[in-house]
Amino acid sequence: MTMDRYAVAGNPVEHSRSPAIHAAFARQTGQSLWYGRLLCPLDAFEATLRAFVGDRAEGIVRGCNVTVPFKFDAFRLATRHSERARLAQAANTLRFDDEGWYADNTDGIGLVRDIERNAGVPLGGRRVLLIGAGGAAAGALGPLLAARPAELVVANRTLDKAAALVASHAALAGATRLAAAPNEACGADYDVVINATATSLQGAASPVPPAVLRAGALALDMMYGPAAQGFLGWATSHGATGRDGLGMLVEQAAEAFQLWRGVRPDTAPVLATLRAELALPAR
Ligand code: ATR
Repeated sequence: MTMDRYAVAGNPVEHSRSPAIHAAFARQTGQSLWYGRLLCPLDAFEATLRAFVGDRAEGIVRGCNVTVPFKFDAFRLATRHSERARLAQAANTLRFDDEGWYADNTDGIGLVRDIERNAGVPLGGRRVLLIGAGGAAAGALGPLLAARPAELVVANRTLDKAAALVASHAALAGATRLAAAPNEACGADYDVVINATATSLQGAASPVPPAVLRAGALALDMMYGPAAQGFLGWATSHGATGRDGLGMLVEQAAEAFQLWRGVRPDTAPVLATLRAELALPAR
């Protein structure tokens, strides 16, 4: 019997947790599927993906997750797009339908679910700072606005990029005060601060001053493991509650799983297992 096939496509992918997460979802929901890793050379994402999808010897490839640095390419290769993928101009999830490739972006909704449900911090009426204006921030902005914060400031080292992101989302702002700011002057006393920059990977602590954190603020880094520790250490040393990106990772996977399989897995036990495996503190 052949199984429906899925994979995470990226470069690098060898440390991706997605195969373990989707295997756990499949066990939990009684779905029979195979989920692997697809390492794509930097100059051959499309060719590698098309070869993977075209090879039906082991089963039909139904979808894939896409990670760094191919999320923009994945969006362009699809013929149909969800609204949230269109807003981000980037896709982390592809579904290979008979009618063509469908692109979605589940990163932002995964982030919002992790903050609101797992961390128990409703975003409605809150003041939120999103740091960064690259692909990760672009994926998050639409779903963050949909949660109706009172204020959402996008801070970035390069102000123009933050301003462009704010402009492309202005129509969605509704009653939310949406603005762009430079990192060094991006306001103070936010309830929720989200680091969507690449600074953690560079070992840096925080690209913004500590005044952004009100006492007890939630400070979330989209990274997890050692990469997140600089920002989280900075946040906790200034009175905030730190949270890494592991919950977001599991939640974006659950949303992709639902898109592919039509069933929503329970994320809590999968997140707990992952945390235990990574021997991280339960943030
Ligand atoms: P991704 O797709 O992962 O978001 P990206 O598009 O390269 O990656 O974006 C990286 C983000 O991290 C950008 O917001 C970048 O700021 P610039 O737009 O000014 O380049 C931010 N970033 C990277 N290194 C940084 C640093 N040392 N200090 C502050 N911001 C940094």
